[in-house]
Amino acid sequence: MNNKIKVLIADDIIDTITLIKRILLMESDIFEVVGEATNGEEVLELIPKVNPDVVLMDINMPVLNGLEATEQITNTFPNVIVIIMSVQGESEYLKKAMLNGAKEYIIKPFNVDDLIETIRVTYTKYRDRQIKMLSRQEKDREGKVITFFSSKGGVGKSVLALNCAVMLSKNPNKKVLLIDMDLQFGDISILTNQINHKSILDLVDEGQLDSYENIIPYLYIYNENLHMMFAPGKPEAAEYIGRNDIEKIIKACQKHYDVLVIDTGINFNDNTLFILDYSHTIIFVSTMEITALKNTKLGLNVMRSLGYDKSKVKLVINKMDAGYGVSKNDVEETFKDNLLAMIPRKDKIVGLSVNRGQPICDSDKYNKIKVCKAIEEMCSKLTV
Ligand SMILES: Nc1ncnc2c1ncn2[C@@H]1O[C@H](COP(=O)(O)OP(=O)(O)O)[C@@H](O)[C@H]1O
Ligand SMILES: [Mg+2]
Repeated sequence: MNNKIKVLIADDIIDTITLIKRILLMESDIFEVVGEATNGEEVLELIPKVNPDVVLMDINMPVLNGLEATEQITNTFPNVIVIIMSVQGESEYLKKAMLNGAKEYIIKPFNVDDLIETIRVTYTKYRDRQIKMLSRQEKDREGKVITFFSSKGGVGKSVLALNCAVMLSKNPNKKVLLIDMDLQFGDISILTNQINHKSILDLVDEGQLDSYENIIPYLYIYNENLHMMFAPGKPEAAEYIGRNDIEKIIKACQKHYDVLVIDTGINFNDNTLFILDYSHTIIFVSTMEITALKNTKLGLNVMRSLGYDKSKVKLVINKMDAGYGVSKNDVEETFKDNLLAMIPRKDKIVGLSVNRGQPICDSDKYNKIKVCKAIEEMCSKLTV
């Protein structure tokens, strides 16, 4: 039986490859070096031949550099874990590498323990995740989980999550729970004018997360069909809430609602990863701003590298406006398979609803408001 972690090393400096090989050989019961490459193109050729679990990837390499190679691996071999090796001061490149789908990075020069631990921990984390995803039982879940995610702040993710929940709950047969899992900067409580209401932090402090009966006192009952769980009021509280807490809360609530709408923060931390994995549908929110669109393309690549297919990840372009110099057709063309909806930009009416803390889709004349019509249409395409 061979259950060693299979490592492919890519660096244009042969001495570096030799050094890494020597280090990994010291732990030869854990690691097996299955290949060596001196540029990105060799990496892509070698992967199908040697089937690595992990690629240790240098950034600066001739022919095809590590950033581009990482992006191609993400698209073509989503189960291969890329760990970037970089020198101090390349943080812009590092960020790009992570957006391109690298799972971890290590700064050169590294010591023996750093290298071994980084590979081992990253591998274990992602392998466990893959196993969990495959073995997840569809039958022990009831409420559908719809998660709003974005790779950039300020795109309107929270406004859309809230109004989507409001819209879905208009169906008398649907009970909806909106959970604000943007634990650092969550603002659903502001958007509903409830800043002093209890939050998930109070619930986790109390510690009884397994039973829905214990969760109820911490929920905001917006109306009979729509309940909400707010994020903590202060950013530093996020560290007290872990992946296990979130899993317990979601699972306990799932049996009592038809839909769980979840708003998330903008980073891929452990909590977010769990929520994304667990979701039936991920709504990736972007705007037409060129930087947002660029991040969105990369973000969608990361989603693919996490093993989510097109039926799970849907794109919504918010704040649609002629003023961006990017046309509606361009957006449709670029994202055709993923595109779920485009929501118009209406600064005045959305701004007013945000400032008042009253969801726009709950106003009397909501069916005359273009933003609400677009949200309604978006909701009608969700299978809940
Ligand atoms: N369709 C829209 N038209 C105009 N402004 C919008 C629209 N959607 C959201 N906004 C504005 O964008 C700002 C950011 O929205 P928010 O939901 O807090 O973003 P995020 O959660 O992505 O950080 C809000 O102040 C809101 O008024
Ligand atoms: Mg937000």
